[in-house]
Amino acid sequence: MHKDLKSILMPKEEIAAAVSQLADQLNNDFNGEPVLAVVILKGSMFFAADLLRELTMPVTLDFMKVSSYGSGSASSGAVKLALDISADLTGQNVLIIEDIIDSGNTLFKIRNLLSNRGAKCVKICTLLDKPERREAKIEADYTGKFIPNEFVVGYGLDYDERYRNLDYIGILDESVYS
Ligand code: PRP
Repeated sequence: MHKDLKSILMPKEEIAAAVSQLADQLNNDFNGEPVLAVVILKGSMFFAADLLRELTMPVTLDFMKVSSYGSGSASSGAVKLALDISADLTGQNVLIIEDIIDSGNTLFKIRNLLSNRGAKCVKICTLLDKPERREAKIEADYTGKFIPNEFVVGYGLDYDERYRNLDYIGILDESVYS
Protein backbone atom coordinates (compact mmCIF):
# COMPACT_ATOMS: atom_id res chain seq x y z
CA MET A 1 0.00 0.00 0.00
CA HIS A 2 1.19 3.54 -0.80
CA LYS A 3 2.58 5.33 2.27
CA ASP A 4 0.09 8.24 1.93
CA LEU A 5 -2.91 5.94 2.34
CA LYS A 6 -4.55 4.88 5.58
CA SER A 7 -6.31 1.85 4.08
CA ILE A 8 -7.34 0.14 0.87
CA LEU A 9 -10.99 0.58 -0.08
CA MET A 10 -11.07 -1.59 -3.23
CA PRO A 11 -8.26 -3.98 -4.09
CA LYS A 12 -7.73 -4.54 -7.80
CA GLU A 13 -9.59 -7.86 -7.71
CA GLU A 14 -12.69 -6.16 -6.30
CA ILE A 15 -12.48 -3.44 -8.94
CA ALA A 16 -12.26 -6.06 -11.68
CA ALA A 17 -15.29 -7.90 -10.29
CA ALA A 18 -17.31 -4.66 -10.09
CA VAL A 19 -16.35 -3.74 -13.65
CA SER A 20 -17.39 -7.17 -14.94
CA GLN A 21 -20.70 -6.98 -13.11
CA LEU A 22 -21.43 -3.55 -14.61
CA ALA A 23 -20.47 -4.79 -18.07
CA ASP A 24 -22.85 -7.76 -17.70
CA GLN A 25 -25.71 -5.42 -16.77
CA LEU A 26 -24.95 -3.08 -19.68
CA ASN A 27 -24.62 -5.94 -22.20
CA ASN A 28 -27.92 -7.31 -21.00
CA ASP A 29 -29.81 -3.98 -20.96
CA PHE A 30 -28.58 -2.62 -24.30
CA ASN A 31 -29.08 -6.03 -25.91
CA GLY A 32 -26.77 -5.43 -28.87
CA GLU A 33 -27.85 -1.83 -29.57
CA PRO A 34 -24.96 0.53 -30.39
CA VAL A 35 -23.71 2.81 -27.62
CA LEU A 36 -21.81 6.09 -27.66
CA ALA A 37 -19.60 6.08 -24.57
CA VAL A 38 -18.86 9.55 -23.22
CA VAL A 39 -15.85 9.29 -20.93
CA ILE A 40 -15.45 12.08 -18.40
CA LEU A 41 -11.78 13.06 -18.18
CA LYS A 42 -9.49 12.66 -16.51
CA GLY A 43 -10.49 10.39 -13.65
CA SER A 44 -12.65 7.95 -15.61
CA MET A 45 -10.05 6.84 -18.13
CA PHE A 46 -8.90 3.73 -16.24
CA PHE A 47 -12.44 2.60 -15.44
CA ALA A 48 -13.64 3.32 -18.99
CA ALA A 49 -10.71 1.47 -20.55
CA ASP A 50 -11.52 -1.65 -18.55
CA LEU A 51 -15.31 -1.43 -18.82
CA LEU A 52 -15.46 -0.74 -22.57
CA ARG A 53 -13.32 -3.77 -23.34
CA GLU A 54 -15.99 -5.96 -21.73
CA LEU A 55 -18.90 -4.52 -23.69
CA THR A 56 -20.18 -6.66 -26.55
CA MET A 57 -22.39 -4.16 -28.44
CA PRO A 58 -20.94 -1.76 -31.07
CA VAL A 59 -19.28 1.07 -29.11
CA THR A 60 -18.09 4.48 -30.25
CA LEU A 61 -16.09 6.72 -27.97
CA ASP A 62 -15.94 10.39 -27.14
CA PHE A 63 -14.57 12.49 -24.30
CA MET A 64 -15.70 15.36 -22.15
CA LYS A 65 -13.99 17.29 -19.40
CA VAL A 66 -15.76 19.32 -16.78
CA SER A 67 -13.65 20.79 -14.02
CA SER A 68 -14.60 22.06 -10.63
CA TYR A 69 -12.46 24.95 -9.50
CA GLY A 70 -9.57 24.49 -7.08
CA SER A 71 -7.38 21.54 -6.15
CA GLY A 72 -8.65 20.85 -2.65
CA SER A 73 -10.42 17.79 -1.32
CA ALA A 74 -13.93 19.26 -1.65
CA SER A 75 -15.47 20.53 -4.88
CA SER A 76 -16.66 24.14 -4.82
CA GLY A 77 -19.88 23.61 -6.78
CA ALA A 78 -18.63 25.86 -9.59
CA VAL A 79 -18.25 23.69 -12.68
CA LYS A 80 -16.80 24.71 -16.03
CA LEU A 81 -16.89 22.87 -19.37
CA ALA A 82 -13.29 22.39 -20.46
CA LEU A 83 -13.78 19.94 -23.38
CA ASP A 84 -16.94 19.03 -25.25
CA ILE A 85 -17.64 15.92 -27.32
CA SER A 86 -17.51 16.17 -31.08
CA ALA A 87 -20.06 13.43 -31.86
CA ASP A 88 -23.59 14.16 -33.05
CA LEU A 89 -25.94 12.67 -30.44
CA THR A 90 -29.04 12.49 -32.62
CA GLY A 91 -30.76 9.13 -32.05
CA GLN A 92 -27.82 7.71 -30.11
CA ASN A 93 -27.77 5.65 -26.92
CA VAL A 94 -25.40 7.74 -24.80
CA LEU A 95 -23.60 6.15 -21.87
CA ILE A 96 -21.80 8.61 -19.61
CA ILE A 97 -18.88 6.93 -17.86
CA GLU A 98 -17.75 8.47 -14.59
CA ASP A 99 -15.35 7.32 -11.89
CA ILE A 100 -17.15 8.85 -8.91
CA ILE A 101 -20.24 10.86 -8.01
CA ASP A 102 -19.60 13.09 -5.03
CA SER A 103 -21.63 16.33 -4.83
CA GLY A 104 -23.18 15.36 -8.17
CA ASN A 105 -22.51 18.83 -9.59
CA THR A 106 -20.30 17.50 -12.40
CA LEU A 107 -22.80 14.93 -13.66
CA PHE A 108 -25.74 17.28 -13.20
CA LYS A 109 -24.10 19.74 -15.58
CA ILE A 110 -23.02 17.05 -18.05
CA ARG A 111 -26.37 15.30 -18.15
CA ASN A 112 -28.18 18.60 -18.73
CA LEU A 113 -25.78 19.53 -21.52
CA LEU A 114 -26.15 16.16 -23.26
CA SER A 115 -29.88 15.70 -22.71
CA ASN A 116 -30.82 18.54 -25.07
CA ARG A 117 -29.00 17.20 -28.12
CA GLY A 118 -31.48 14.68 -29.48
CA ALA A 119 -30.09 11.47 -27.97
CA LYS A 120 -32.36 8.43 -27.85
CA CYS A 121 -31.32 7.94 -24.23
CA VAL A 122 -28.70 9.23 -21.80
CA LYS A 123 -27.59 6.77 -19.12
CA ILE A 124 -24.96 7.16 -16.42
CA CYS A 125 -22.53 4.49 -15.27
CA THR A 126 -20.28 5.26 -12.31
CA LEU A 127 -17.78 3.06 -10.54
CA LEU A 128 -18.19 4.80 -7.18
CA ASP A 129 -20.90 6.83 -5.48
CA LYS A 130 -20.60 8.80 -2.24
CA PRO A 131 -24.28 9.47 -1.51
CA GLU A 132 -23.63 11.33 1.77
CA ARG A 133 -22.02 14.20 -0.14
CA ARG A 134 -24.79 14.80 -2.69
CA GLU A 135 -25.81 18.40 -3.44
CA ALA A 136 -27.32 18.06 -6.92
CA LYS A 137 -30.34 15.86 -7.61
CA ILE A 138 -28.79 13.13 -9.71
CA GLU A 139 -28.40 9.35 -9.55
CA ALA A 140 -26.53 6.91 -11.75
CA ASP A 141 -28.32 4.19 -13.68
CA TYR A 142 -25.41 1.80 -13.02
CA THR A 143 -23.22 1.96 -9.89
CA GLY A 144 -20.25 -0.23 -9.02
CA LYS A 145 -20.03 0.55 -5.31
CA PHE A 146 -21.53 2.96 -2.79
CA ILE A 147 -18.80 4.22 -0.51
CA PRO A 148 -18.56 6.21 2.75
CA ASN A 149 -17.52 9.86 2.87
CA GLU A 150 -13.77 9.30 2.69
CA PHE A 151 -11.15 10.85 0.41
CA VAL A 152 -10.38 8.14 -2.12
CA VAL A 153 -7.58 7.98 -4.67
CA GLY A 154 -6.25 5.53 -7.24
CA TYR A 155 -7.56 3.85 -10.42
CA GLY A 156 -7.94 7.29 -11.99
CA LEU A 157 -8.91 9.23 -8.87
CA ASP A 158 -6.48 11.90 -7.78
CA TYR A 159 -5.55 14.28 -5.03
CA ASP A 160 -3.87 17.31 -6.61
CA GLU A 161 -3.25 15.19 -9.75
CA ARG A 162 -1.39 12.46 -7.84
CA TYR A 163 -2.15 8.76 -7.22
CA ARG A 164 -4.19 8.25 -10.43
CA ASN A 165 -2.01 5.34 -11.56
CA LEU A 166 -2.45 3.16 -8.48
CA ASP A 167 -4.13 -0.07 -9.59
CA TYR A 168 -6.35 -0.16 -6.49
CA ILE A 169 -8.50 2.45 -4.71
CA GLY A 170 -7.33 3.63 -1.30
CA ILE A 171 -8.34 6.08 1.40
CA LEU A 172 -5.94 9.01 1.64
CA ASP A 173 -4.49 9.77 5.05
CA GLU A 174 -5.80 13.08 6.44
CA SER A 175 -2.23 14.27 7.04
CA VAL A 176 -1.73 14.56 3.27
CA TYR A 177 -4.50 17.12 2.73
CA SER A 178 -5.16 18.76 6.12
C1 PRP B 1 -13.85 14.37 -10.13
C2 PRP B 1 -14.43 13.06 -10.56
C3 PRP B 1 -15.83 13.44 -11.01
C4 PRP B 1 -16.17 14.60 -10.12
C5 PRP B 1 -17.11 14.16 -9.04
O1 PRP B 1 -13.40 15.04 -11.27
O2 PRP B 1 -13.69 12.47 -11.59
O3 PRP B 1 -15.84 13.85 -12.36
O4 PRP B 1 -14.94 15.06 -9.54
O5 PRP B 1 -17.36 15.20 -8.15
P1 PRP B 1 -18.76 15.93 -7.99
O6 PRP B 1 -19.83 14.87 -7.99
O7 PRP B 1 -18.63 16.62 -6.64
O8 PRP B 1 -18.93 16.90 -9.11
P2 PRP B 1 -12.50 16.35 -11.23
O9 PRP B 1 -13.37 17.54 -11.53
O10 PRP B 1 -11.72 16.39 -9.95
O11 PRP B 1 -11.56 16.14 -12.47
P3 PRP B 1 -10.60 14.88 -12.81
O12 PRP B 1 -11.49 13.75 -13.23
O13 PRP B 1 -9.76 15.41 -13.92
O14 PRP B 1 -9.81 14.55 -11.57
